[in-house]
Amino acid sequence: MCGIIGYIGDKKASDILISGLSHLEYRGYDSAGIALMHGKDIDIYKAEGKLVNLIEVLKTKQDVCEKSKIGIGHIRWATHGLPTTINAHPHTCNCKNLTLVHNGIIENYQELKEELLAKGCIFKSQTDTEVAAHLIANEYGKTNNLLKAMQNAVKKIKGAFAFCAIHKKEPDRIVVAKRNAPLVIGVGQNENFIASDIPAIIEYTKKAIYLSDHQVGVVKKDSIEIYDENDSLISNKIELLPFEAIAISKMGYKHFMLKEIHEQGDVIRNILSGKLISPKDSIVLEDFKLTKEQINKIKRVQIIACGTSLHAGLVGKYIIEKFAKIPTDVEPSSEYIYRDTIADENTLVIGISQSGETADTISAIKQVKENNSHIAIITNRTDSTMARLADSLLAINAGIEVSVAATKSYIAQLISLYLLAIFLGEAKEISCYKDEIINLKQELIKLPNKIEELLEHTENIKTIAKKYSSFKDFIFIARGINYPSALEGALKLKEISYINATGYGAGELKHGPIAMLDSDMPVLAILNTGIVYDKVLSNCEEAKARQARLIGVADYIAPKDKDLFDDLIMIPKVSDTLSPAVNIVVLQLLAYYIAEYLGKDVDQPRNLAKSVTVE
Ligand code: AGP
Repeated sequence: MCGIIGYIGDKKASDILISGLSHLEYRGYDSAGIALMHGKDIDIYKAEGKLVNLIEVLKTKQDVCEKSKIGIGHIRWATHGLPTTINAHPHTCNCKNLTLVHNGIIENYQELKEELLAKGCIFKSQTDTEVAAHLIANEYGKTNNLLKAMQNAVKKIKGAFAFCAIHKKEPDRIVVAKRNAPLVIGVGQNENFIASDIPAIIEYTKKAIYLSDHQVGVVKKDSIEIYDENDSLISNKIELLPFEAIAISKMGYKHFMLKEIHEQGDVIRNILSGKLISPKDSIVLEDFKLTKEQINKIKRVQIIACGTSLHAGLVGKYIIEKFAKIPTDVEPSSEYIYRDTIADENTLVIGISQSGETADTISAIKQVKENNSHIAIITNRTDSTMARLADSLLAINAGIEVSVAATKSYIAQLISLYLLAIFLGEAKEISCYKDEIINLKQELIKLPNKIEELLEHTENIKTIAKKYSSFKDFIFIARGINYPSALEGALKLKEISYINATGYGAGELKHGPIAMLDSDMPVLAILNTGIVYDKVLSNCEEAKARQARLIGVADYIAPKDKDLFDDLIMIPKVSDTLSPAVNIVVLQLLAYYIAEYLGKDVDQPRNLAKSVTVE
């Protein structure tokens, strides 16, 4: 996590650094800092807490800000050391000639620290980053060259990093390095930019160089040099950036999360376009690179993901097993990497990740790549590390998602999985669900309108949110294909309101969780007309008999059963198979309005970060 930014040119660096950091706040926000270089001086300003605190500090330093045209900045998500000002980046060496910002984790920092202490380095913070500052400075002592110092230092570092370093004796450059943490260099006219992610620089340039792992770069205002892991100069590959600046505006919504929830209709239209032509046509997935013959050889599917993406994967299991008849396992990436997993050339591995930068999923994918399995990556970021590891890259094209809580990317992942499941089934010529598939395609085409209709009538959800906002605990229950909806609904509520919410398969309630039920424990039950409807209804009866307050999210409730529920949210009717894509919108809104009513920081919940780049 953490976000880094750098600027070198003729403009006021502090403005560009602060604006860039504001677009990286989703990566972490427990402290921030910048270093400004003017002449042969470097001034460092840091503040604990959110970026606004650093902006306040800078208001009193306008003289330095005005004259500084080079700088580096950082927004932190603490891993080593508390989120204090002293631990905030940038960090320096003993003589303060070198200043550095870092994203990632230095795994051998203890070992390096001992060596550096023995050489007389004095450490001020508890961070692993300060070790890198001293280490590079130490190498500078031997070479008098910042590029060479960085090249030598990174060879001694184990772990993940994206570095930006400046040195008082080389005031015309920023030296950068990358391994297993994202870093992009924005290419400008007589100015250049460095950032962890595109939103930080998109308003200044649409041209960029993505640094690859093990590369080191020298960024000056009118040139960029990139060196490979053998320290050889390589030619620059300039790419066009995919995002418009408009994507990072709230467009009148109070929060990005609400805006992103409302974008879901269009997100679905976008994914379906060109892939689902008509209910009678087969799904077109040009980006899926396996032939019919190869698909027929697939013996198992393994889905690897984390958090919300994992929940999308759980829905994927239901539909891949149903429509493609391939046994499918779903596992959190963080567990997958510490097991002897069985995957071979007849295994299709699907990695799902909004950001494409989740460290656990990247490690799992790298691990499985050695087994010759076909790797399909479902991601919102075609410019990400994971995308670069893909054999088949399935872009969800949801547009940039700013709010830390994933919403539109989840629905986009779901729709991609529906398309993939049908596609695999069609390639295998499985005919048993032919009519159901035609119906599902019809429903998919109508889905954006249904969701938009739902989003126009949210008064009931707002009222229920207010009524339940004072509860400290929540249970979400569902069965079948909506079991993942219960998990995702609970995760959303937890993430942004800090209410303790847990999702259970409704049938599991009686095997333990029922012990917690009383009038202080609201139970939200998801009921869709389908094979598990009656079963979930019985589970609701069991909950009600224990005085739990019952909220139903349902597409139908018989008049005789209505009294069972304290509150009901009725949703548009779709097939049981497609219902997770509708139910989740209600659960997102409920979580949003509860958090909003409680006055929480919806877009940037405490302790979280949008892309979790540490294992
Ligand atoms: C979603 O609301 C969460 N912030 C989190 O669970 C997230 O889904 C998880 O960290 C995985 O991220 P990814 O999709 O970018 O890999």
